[in-house]
Amino acid sequence: MTTKSGLRSDFLWGGAVAAHQLEGGWQEGGKGVSMADVMTAGANGVPREITDGVIAGKNYPNHDGIDFYGHYKEDIKLFAEMGFKCFRTSIAWTRIFPNGDETEPNEAGLKFYDDMFDTCHQYGIEPVITLAHFEMPYHLVKEYGGWRSRKVIDFFVHYATTVFKRYKNKVKYWMTFNEINNQTTYTNQFLMATDSGLVLKPDDPDAEALMYQAAHYEVVASALAVKIGHEINPDFKIGNMINMTPIYPLTAKPQDIMQAEKAMQRRYWFADVQSWGYYPRNMEAFFKQTGFRPDITAEDRQVLKEGTVDYIGFSYYNSNTVEGKADNPSYHFVGTEAVDNPYLKTSEWDWPIDPEGLRYSLNWLQDRYNKPMMIVENGLGARDKVEADGSIHDPYRIDYLRAHISEMIKAVNEDGVDLIGYTPWGCIDLVSAGTGQMSKRYGFIYVDKDDEGNGTLDRSKKDSFYWYQKVIKTNGADL
Ligand code: BG6
Repeated sequence: MTTKSGLRSDFLWGGAVAAHQLEGGWQEGGKGVSMADVMTAGANGVPREITDGVIAGKNYPNHDGIDFYGHYKEDIKLFAEMGFKCFRTSIAWTRIFPNGDETEPNEAGLKFYDDMFDTCHQYGIEPVITLAHFEMPYHLVKEYGGWRSRKVIDFFVHYATTVFKRYKNKVKYWMTFNEINNQTTYTNQFLMATDSGLVLKPDDPDAEALMYQAAHYEVVASALAVKIGHEINPDFKIGNMINMTPIYPLTAKPQDIMQAEKAMQRRYWFADVQSWGYYPRNMEAFFKQTGFRPDITAEDRQVLKEGTVDYIGFSYYNSNTVEGKADNPSYHFVGTEAVDNPYLKTSEWDWPIDPEGLRYSLNWLQDRYNKPMMIVENGLGARDKVEADGSIHDPYRIDYLRAHISEMIKAVNEDGVDLIGYTPWGCIDLVSAGTGQMSKRYGFIYVDKDDEGNGTLDRSKKDSFYWYQKVIKTNGADL
């Protein structure tokens, strides 16, 4: 059934976060050290340092996050006040298996999520859970080299099976790997570490080959999780999660068009495999030429077929634009080749702002995969100012979200896309993944904490809180 806006009446409005960016409590309840726990604070244009273990005296913003671990009851109550129908977060793998390779799970970690999901249900909020959101156990990184090892498939599947069984009646919507396709940019240490636990030197000659092999193990692990999840509870809806950044050609020049097409192939084959159950022909041809994915078995191919996702989960923040180069006949693409789009403005962090790109993305994904979709991240990172009376006026955030929601509604009504939910990113201020900053804020709820870790952690409502409350109440009719 649809409503005035054209959205379905059970549309899943909510918000999204990830365990490592807000929970804090990095050593509470027997939690182990994760990849995110060895990342220092960076800044705009200053990359986060990945240290060799936790080093005393360095600033690791994820260790304390915004202490959602201690505040989740209060925070979920605020989400309920906004009218959330769902809440997307992740399970920190290291709360359940502190090292990643144990046989028995950590009961205190399981109990934390039991309580948190119960609190959501108390308010009629459906948890939407990502299994792996940049939080690989650090022990697996050190001992096994992250996803470069096939053994990690078993550890991940054991973890997924454990939480599927435990939360069988509490969680219906799942996603496997967050933004699994970020690692396409294999020259970026942060993206390799967060996606695959691959710690490399920037100019490591093997980086590209390693990434493709690791990514293969991940898509196999993702398919196995989907398959096992459906056996545990046939009502589970298990999606993938990709970063959707459509890549436009700069001009109508055939070289630009071809470059954009090849770039899309390099970034989105992950979703092809996860939703079709096999590699696209263009990637098989690429592997034949490069030899980059030597370890693929007949059994892997069978698993991929049997574990296709139920829906496409994706983040959308911006589009990218590329230009074909005469000296790049193979149309190699890493992700760093993006050029400025003369038609778009950018955020303070240089992310292009392109609401129509969201409509374009929904169309592209619908045409290609023809599955239900959920927009599980979208939003504007911006600095907020707290006025003397404590109020926070954030019209820029409202403008950004309004423009994107309006394009999303057009895609549903005019293009017929099958959209089941929308969870804007960082519904409560949290640690930025890319920079480790607190000052890059996305929330409807302000958290008093600065980049150095000072602050009361008090929560307060921004203007956007009341605006989003109205949007949800009218199911998107009043923007
Ligand atoms: C996505 C991630 O890449 O974008 C989130 O899934 C992240 O974890 C979000 O926080 C926004 O990026 P950033 O760098 O502004 O935090």
